[in-house]
Amino acid sequence: NNSHAFFKHGLSLNVEFILGFATLHINCNIFDPFFSLIVSSAQQGEVESCTRRKVKRLLSFQRYCHASRLLRGLVPHTPGSLHLLDDDYLGQAAHMLSKVGTWNFDIFLFDRLTNGNSLVMLMCHLFNVYDLVHHFQLDIVKLHRFLGMVQEDYHSQNPYHNAVHAADVTQAMYCYLQEPKLAEQLSPLDVFLGLMAAAAHDVDHPGVNQPFLIKTQHHLASLYQNTSVLESHHWRSTVGMLRESGLLSHLPADMSGDIEAQLGSLILATDISRQNEFLSTFREHLDNQDLDLQLASHRHFILQIALKCADVCNPCRVWELSRQWSERVCEEFYRQGDLEREYDLEISPLCNQQADTVPVIQIGFISYIVEPLFVEWHRFTDPSPLSLTMMGHIHKNKACWNNLRCAAHTPTHSPTEEPEPEGGDEEVDDEIP
Ligand SMILES: *[C@@H]1O[C@H](CO)[C@@H](O)[C@H](O)[C@H]1NC(C)=O
Ligand SMILES: [Zn+2]
Repeated sequence: NNSHAFFKHGLSLNVEFILGFATLHINCNIFDPFFSLIVSSAQQGEVESCTRRKVKRLLSFQRYCHASRLLRGLVPHTPGSLHLLDDDYLGQAAHMLSKVGTWNFDIFLFDRLTNGNSLVMLMCHLFNVYDLVHHFQLDIVKLHRFLGMVQEDYHSQNPYHNAVHAADVTQAMYCYLQEPKLAEQLSPLDVFLGLMAAAAHDVDHPGVNQPFLIKTQHHLASLYQNTSVLESHHWRSTVGMLRESGLLSHLPADMSGDIEAQLGSLILATDISRQNEFLSTFREHLDNQDLDLQLASHRHFILQIALKCADVCNPCRVWELSRQWSERVCEEFYRQGDLEREYDLEISPLCNQQADTVPVIQIGFISYIVEPLFVEWHRFTDPSPLSLTMMGHIHKNKACWNNLRCAAHTPTHSPTEEPEPEGGDEEVDDEIP
């Protein structure tokens, strides 16, 4: 069971605690002397021979897992192995990319066709679409190195929070950046930040939630003082990889600093516990009709909202894609629940496979998180054709989960008969426009 690896690597996590602390509070150029101060003398000989790069590699526990797999003689998945791909698959993937802006884009198929490289391939394509390499004078080798690191630092063992989710959010983000209301107003920097934040927003996600990290006294919880623990880690990991790859090293320090800070503000906005704060601000702006997209600060706010929408847009997709995401996220919850049961911890809400069924979890998620957000996004876009499509899918998918929930409760007298929805589910009759 993959989730157990989480505990077995406790020793390496302690190392990350020290190093994670170091990245937060000290500058790169004093990293080496500081590092030798905080590591016990028994380890010093080893440490001094480490290059800065090797030290930084230890920062991520995903990277530790790769290292340990190598030690056990297992070959890790290498994102760079494109040459092994069948030309036919690559041709099909390229064909899919020509339709990357369509809402029914099948990211699962794209990920299979690209041999698990969907995030890197998608980002490279979108950077070309927007001519970002030229605009920011990016070094293409550094860009590939950065994107490869991001993709690799997602945990492929997670049923949900893996690189395919990141690619899915990035594809949704691209669709939102294309909204007529927004597209004309966005600067290249806005687009760059939006895509980068989407690609990296869950990087190195451990597959358990913040309350779990707090109650197991995980070092990240104390490092980030129980607040936006995961999101802070995703952001600081991203900054670490930006610096390690040198992607922005040619830019003036104030500009790369501003990019790092804005990425933080975008990624931290995905903390679902801050949902009401963002939602009420958004609602207020729409009520007052005072959003001015000429203002960089207002565009930044809309990017935050767009990223939040992209992050929870699974129920806005066509049923066949939506259902797969739902099953994956619930599987990840259940694994946390199993871990909690095994370690005699209280089982977290939604994590009990026996009590919390997929349909019930999904109906709650749609009703309390997704619908309220997309109702406002719908208003913001005027509404756009894409918004109308998404609202249609939300209603249809919710009706499907309602049917499945009722089917589970209905004695199976006639298995072929369509299950009836519970009273008052007007969504059942809704059709996608
Ligand atoms: C974080 O939460 C734990 C458990 O509730 C508590 O013991 C600890 O003091 C909290 N830490 C901070 C910095 O608030
Ligand atoms: Zn996410």
